[in-house]
Amino acid sequence: MLEIIKYPSKILRIKSRKVKNIFDSQFQKFIEDLKETMIKADGLGLAANQVNKDLRIFAVNAQGGVKIIINPFIYYKSLFNQEIGEEGCLSFPGLFGLVKRPKKIRLFYRDENGRLNHIVASGLLARVIQHETDHINGVLFIDKMLKVTKGDLEDYAEKF
Ligand code: CO
Repeated sequence: MLEIIKYPSKILRIKSRKVKNIFDSQFQKFIEDLKETMIKADGLGLAANQVNKDLRIFAVNAQGGVKIIINPFIYYKSLFNQEIGEEGCLSFPGLFGLVKRPKKIRLFYRDENGRLNHIVASGLLARVIQHETDHINGVLFIDKMLKVTKGDLEDYAEKF
C-alpha cells in the first residue's frame, strides 16, 4: 500500500504530466499499487499525485468496479444539467462537503493496456471522474465546495 499524501502538500497543487510509457514494467507495478491503495483506503477514487506521483492517471471504484483512467480528455460536460452531491477525499480525512458538478460527461482515456476508450458517464461515476481529473490538474474539492457537511475546513488551513 502506498502512502496517501494529505493536504496541504504541494504535489496536490501541481498539474500532472501526461503518461508516455504505459507498458513500462515499473509503471504497470504502480498501477497495481494505486488500485490496491484505493481499495484498502476504501476510496471511490485515487489520483497519482495523491500518492506522490506526478502523472495523469487515477483509479476509480464506482459503478462497474475498478477502472484505471490514463490521460483523460473530458470533451463534454452537461453544464446546463448540474447536480449537487456530497464528496470526500482521501487527502482530507474526515472532511465532507457539497460540490455542484455537471451530471453527465463524455471522455476519452487510455486504460492500463494502452487501449483508447470512450465513455459516457453520469451520476456517481461522472462525479468521481471529475473529482479525480481535477486532482491531476491540481484542483481540489475545497476549491468548489459550497458547504461543509462533516469535519472542519479550518483543520486543513494552509500555514502562512
Ligand atoms: Co480527492
